[in-house]
Amino acid sequence: MKIVVIQGPNLNMLGVREQNIYGPMKLEDIHAQMKSFADQNKIEIEFFQSNLEGEIVDKIQECIGDADGIIINPAAYTHTSIAIRDAVSAVQIPTLEVHLSNIYQREEFRHKSLIAPVCAGQITGMGPFSYHLAMVGMTQILSEIKMIKAKQAQASK
Ligand code: DQA
Repeated sequence: MKIVVIQGPNLNMLGVREQNIYGPMKLEDIHAQMKSFADQNKIEIEFFQSNLEGEIVDKIQECIGDADGIIINPAAYTHTSIAIRDAVSAVQIPTLEVHLSNIYQREEFRHKSLIAPVCAGQITGMGPFSYHLAMVGMTQILSEIKMIKAKQAQASK
């Protein structure tokens, strides 16, 4: 089982940028926590960060045949990117959208996510813990899919 974690623009600056909103934790520390959860649950995990929309689209496309689930924080592209939404929709891989801050508590332009409607779910406002919740949620989604597939295989025997 493999999960790909995709981080959008400026998330490489966590720990430096607007600590009052995003907290002191660096991206690599968040990833270390996710990796330890993945190891404990025997899940393969890959991390990718880009400040470029097209690179994020490429990475989502590369998940076909490679990833069972995607956890994505599209950052500012959440609110603007039809290209990322179309990519998530195209690959047909269960995807969870994550935000550190509560986007619904912030400026009005952050209240709308173009990506969430094509995701299995959205976790927002829990700080770095949002990513842990996404790992737990994705593990649950993937084990349900596995169970359904096993039942289908059993029924077709
Ligand atoms: C963010 C929220 C976005 O509105 C913002 O542009 C970000 C980070 C979050 O994780 O809270 O860069 O995605």
